Amino acid sequence: MRTIGRSLRGKDMAAPREAPRPGLRGNYSEARRDYTVPQQWERYSEDEHTLWQLLYARQRRLAARYACPEFLAALERIDSPHRIPRLDLASRKLRRATGWELVGLPGLIPEREFFEHLAHRRFPVTVWLRTAQEFDYIAEPDLFHDFFGHVPLLFDGVYAEHLQAYGMGGLKALPLGGLPYLARLYWYTIEFGLVRSPDGVRAFGAGLLSSSAELPYAVQDERPRRVAFDLMRVMRTRYRIDRFQSCYFVLDNFAQLLHDTAPDFTPYYERLKQLPALDADEAVPEDRLVVCDDGARC
Ligand code: PHE
Ligand code: FE
Repeated sequence: MRTIGRSLRGKDMAAPREAPRPGLRGNYSEARRDYTVPQQWERYSEDEHTLWQLLYARQRRLAARYACPEFLAALERIDSPHRIPRLDLASRKLRRATGWELVGLPGLIPEREFFEHLAHRRFPVTVWLRTAQEFDYIAEPDLFHDFFGHVPLLFDGVYAEHLQAYGMGGLKALPLGGLPYLARLYWYTIEFGLVRSPDGVRAFGAGLLSSSAELPYAVQDERPRRVAFDLMRVMRTRYRIDRFQSCYFVLDNFAQLLHDTAPDFTPYYERLKQLPALDADEAVPEDRLVVCDDGARC
């Protein structure tokens, strides 16, 4: 394995103090050099625990219908329907299962630090929860998105392996100018990906799994296109952060993702720089549309 840079953790390091982008929510003043913060679980209010419970209940009901089986199996293992979960307790279970652990964050962090965490099998989880007014929608990732959406699949061995490889790939991509392409890959898989299951197409992306409106839309609405996953096609495709996706990409399984992203991306980036990008709603003749076999309209 190649070395991916030294770990930035350490007690004597200066705090970042400021958010990487002005206007970000969350308290960065107490963050360590690697941007982690203690969760301070005792600080959550009863109202926040109640909000968590409501978010969890609604989303679990939707997940039962629209999430991939790997997610549903893992959700049982971190079952925390009533109280905001403790990152240290979830980490203990995860470490035993796949060697991953969770670290607390004040919010979004710079890419390099994010990749460093993933490359070391540390999944960063935002420690603050949205407000009741943001029950249906929040633009920035919060604790509910990060924990409910991302953490369960870290129990899946193949997915877990891929996400670490992605982190290492990110560090490698920085000097190669590969970041825009990797960001698209992440968006269309880790955040908004679909995967085939014995019962039809299901969601595995955290942006979908933590959204009450886009989750059913992505899986069964007739409007969006669903295209069989193709690595280069995905890395060419721009995305929109302000509306539901007009195109989703469908994996056969997680092994396909691990396999297709294993080669050295250096020549891929060179090719991508020559190719025009595709718009989020653009179709190309090579697209293989996925037709569901469970009667759902897609
Ligand atoms: N294999 C890629 C490379 O060598 C890294 C990577 C792994 C990128 C997994 C994305 C996902 O650059
Ligand atoms: Fe996310």
